[in-house]
Amino acid sequence: MSRIKYVYGNWKMNQGLKEIETFFEELSENQKDWKCVFGIAPQFLHLPKLLNSTQNMNVKVGAQNCSHKESGAFTGDISPASLKELGCDFVIIGHSERRAFFKESHEVINEKTKLALSLGLEVVFCIGETLEQREAGKVEEVLKEQITKGLEGLSAKDLENVVIAYEPVWAIGTGVTATPEQAEETHAMIRSFLDSETAFEATTTSILYGGSVKPSNVEGLLSNENIDGALVGGASLKAKDFNALCEEASKLS
Ligand code: PGA
Repeated sequence: MSRIKYVYGNWKMNQGLKEIETFFEELSENQKDWKCVFGIAPQFLHLPKLLNSTQNMNVKVGAQNCSHKESGAFTGDISPASLKELGCDFVIIGHSERRAFFKESHEVINEKTKLALSLGLEVVFCIGETLEQREAGKVEEVLKEQITKGLEGLSAKDLENVVIAYEPVWAIGTGVTATPEQAEETHAMIRSFLDSETAFEATTTSILYGGSVKPSNVEGLLSNENIDGALVGGASLKAKDFNALCEEASKLS
């Protein structure tokens, strides 16, 4: 079964207004013809600017997080309803930096996911093990728990709008990438788990890989049967690299 490839850029807390302008000046003219799905998640503050800059493009725009509540007394939080109203296409939920620095639990991740889906946002649901967990032989156990608890209570229909992003924590921002074989093996395990133990339609579910993806390693990763794209941090910040990633994903789509 061939699934369309994705390239989603997670800009994290990077890119000032000037860098964003340069990025769009340098984004390839070829983007009109790219066959892959591609998108960017900037800082919240820059979402209106991105939505405006991408009006005539196919690029999807997403948020890096959202509140677990729609509205109310949650100082400093961002309502997923407002993200939808603004025109966002997707939201990243459960990124390892949110889990580690902001202590997000499976329960809160589950609430956020349910709410975002109910409001019509696509959810990029992140999972991944730490180096310690990998070395202790717990990859499967950790990923299955993240999926089971984070996506509890969602129907097959809800799950159609969920993209899974497998991001080994030890590969994020470190320059160390999982080998294509390691990544493919884990993706195949995830897909088989989705198929046998969850309500996912596993053959049509997109499972992206994240963790130090760059133009030089993207082909090796994305040419695997179960790797449907990349969630990219560092290499998505420069248009030249983002262009190269999308060109490659397009060829493989
Ligand atoms: P990286 O980040 O590509 O810089 O490793 C990936 C991510 O955190 O989504």
